[in-house]
Parts: sequence; structure tokens; C-alpha cells
Amino acid sequence: MKSVGIIGLGAYIPEKIITNHDLEKMVETSDDWIISRTGIKERRIADEEMATSDLALVAAQRAMLDANIKKEEIDLLILVSMTPDMLFPSTACIVQGKLGLRNDIAAFDLSAACSGFVYALEVGKQFVLNGSCKNVLIIASEVLSKVIDWSDRNTCVLFGDGAGAVVLSEVDSGFGIQSSYLGSNGSLSNLLEMPAGGTRLPASHDTIKKGLHYLKMKGNELFKIAVKMMADSVKEVLKKANISYEKVDILIPHQANMRIIDAVSKMLGFSKDKVFVNLDKYGNTSAASLIIAMKEALEEKKLNEGNILVTTAFGSGLTWGANVIKWGGDLRKR
Ligand code: UT7
Repeated sequence: MKSVGIIGLGAYIPEKIITNHDLEKMVETSDDWIISRTGIKERRIADEEMATSDLALVAAQRAMLDANIKKEEIDLLILVSMTPDMLFPSTACIVQGKLGLRNDIAAFDLSAACSGFVYALEVGKQFVLNGSCKNVLIIASEVLSKVIDWSDRNTCVLFGDGAGAVVLSEVDSGFGIQSSYLGSNGSLSNLLEMPAGGTRLPASHDTIKKGLHYLKMKGNELFKIAVKMMADSVKEVLKKANISYEKVDILIPHQANMRIIDAVSKMLGFSKDKVFVNLDKYGNTSAASLIIAMKEALEEKKLNEGNILVTTAFGSGLTWGANVIKWGGDLRKR
């Protein structure tokens, strides 16, 4: 059986910063409240003219450069986002065109909100395993700032924009994605949604007047489920990979809330030094958060060749999941 892993990684984070103090001028909130309840200090916001595919493009170019892969060598593009450029065509197709990838490859969007990257890693892996693709480009890109109600203090303090991309390929035996665990519960879909703009509530003056094109979240109810499902996902994925907790070098959780990350780490018995956190700088960038965190963990040498990395995520759907990855093993570096 082949081993499939990440051979290149890139990220793009917009330059514009909105601090908690900036938000204090926009809604009734405080730096203290935001830091103590979420751990977030600032977030990045894309320029007005930038859409999800624009961020995705830069992240993808950086990932292909990092992987030393030419655009002609990409055999499949999977894009994950809860903030697509438009309902159709898929943002994957828009990016495929912008990147100038081959026209005989499939490009599709995968919708699993904040868990999108965890899902896409497993989906992409299957295409490499079954031999139909050699190199799969996975992009996670979000411009959440455009679906947020900037007058709603319950949500506007939490999210940020950003993108990440990876190239998946065959790697040295024993390296790469060891196991994935994916789950969902659609009966709780109303806990995090954008109610209007689809076929249920098409765009109308009324939906706009009621602000139904904005992200709506029941944060308090989500919190408890997020902690349980992210922790359970790690337990399940490690069991599947037959890897003990002690063997894990680094846990990279979805960056939604510091209190969620702390609770998950405590439930699993991981010490703080094993858990990577950068949400103070970027807020919750949904599906992009894991790749942006991986990129920084690599730069900070907290993620190294041969390390056992565990990811875990949770999001709208509800969706959740985790991956165990033995980092590195690029066949070309033998
Ligand atoms: O990406 C994956 C999906 N998302 C998540 O997993 C998010 C999960 N949820 C959370 O992170 C937290 O629930 C939040 C950070 C969203 C909220 O924290 P909380 O401790 O659950 O607060 P709460 O919603 O219970 O609100 C407590 C109080 C309320 O006031 P009252 O009703 O007690 O008077 C809120 O109105 O805090 C108030 N509040 C704020 N106060 C100042 C809510 N947002 C703010 C704010 N500034 N920004």
C-alpha cells in the first residue's frame, strides 16, 4: 500500500489587521472580554476587492513552489471554503482557471466548513491511493469578513480571513497520513449557518433587511459540542492509526477559541508545549486555520521531519474530524 502525505505547503494572510481595540470602537466589547473569552488579540481582513479565490490563488502558488511542482503536474484540485466566491461555479474551478492548471483534471469544492481541510486530506489521499492522481492540490480559503455582521458582537470579534494550500503526493513508506476520522451531525445544522442566499431563502430585499446573509452562530451551544467532538476525534483517529498518545509530537487543533483548545488538550492529557496555537494573531479562519498553523509550526521548528502530527477540527454542519500524519518523507529528498 502506498503512503500519501504533504510534500509542499503555502499560506496567504492578508496584511490588514483589525485589533480588539479597533473592535471596541465598532461594537460594545472590550479587549479584556475578547482575550479572556476567546484568546484572540487581532485578526486579518482581506481588501474590499479580494474574494476567496484571490487568497486561494496566492496560497496555492506558494504551496506548489514549496513542493517544487509545476502547474502541469497537478492532477486534481479540491478547494474547501464556507465563503465561496459565488454559489456557482465552484471556487475550485475559478482557481483552476486562474492558476492555469491542465484542463483534463477535476476541480471541485468540498463543503465541510471549519472541518474542510481535515475532510479534504482524506478525500485527496484516496485519489492518490487508487492511482488516478499523482499530485493533488488542496486549498482552504476563507473571506469570512464579508459574511460577518460587523454590528453583531457575538460573532464579529471571532473570525478572520486567510488561506492555506498543500500538495499531496506519494511519500516514503510509513510517512504521510496514517489515519483520518470524519464525522457529522446534520440535525444540529442551525447552530452555525448563513440562512439566506441559497434556495431555501433566495436573496430578496426582505432577507437583506433582516440581515440573513450574515453568519449566524449559537456560540454557547457549539462550544460544548466542539470540545467533545474535537477530543473524541483525536481519540478515534489515534486508535485507528494504532498510535499511543505519548508518540504524538504536536497537536494542531482548529483555531476557534483558546478555551476550546485548552479544554480539548486537558481532556486528552496533552501538555501545553505539545499544542500549537496561533489564534491570537488570526482569529478563527475556518478551514484555513489548520494549514496556516502548520505553516507557522514548521517555521518555528515545532513541526519537523518524522514528527507525529495530529490535527482536529470542528465546524458548521455540524462536521468534525482528525488526521494523524507522520510529517515529511518526500521521496525526492531521499
Ligand atoms: O469554528 C467552529 C465553530 N465555532 C465555535 O466553535 C465557537 C464556539 N463558541 C465560542 O467560542 C464561545 O461560545 C463564544 C466566544 C462565541 C462566546 O463565549 P461564551 O463564554 O460562550 O459567551 P456567551 O455566548 O455565553 O455570552 C456571555 C455574555 C453574554 O451577555 P449576557 O447575556 O450574559 O449579558 C453576551 O451577550 O457575553 C456577551 N458577549 C459579549 N460581551 C462583550 C458576547 N459577545 C461579546 C463581546 N463582547 N464580543
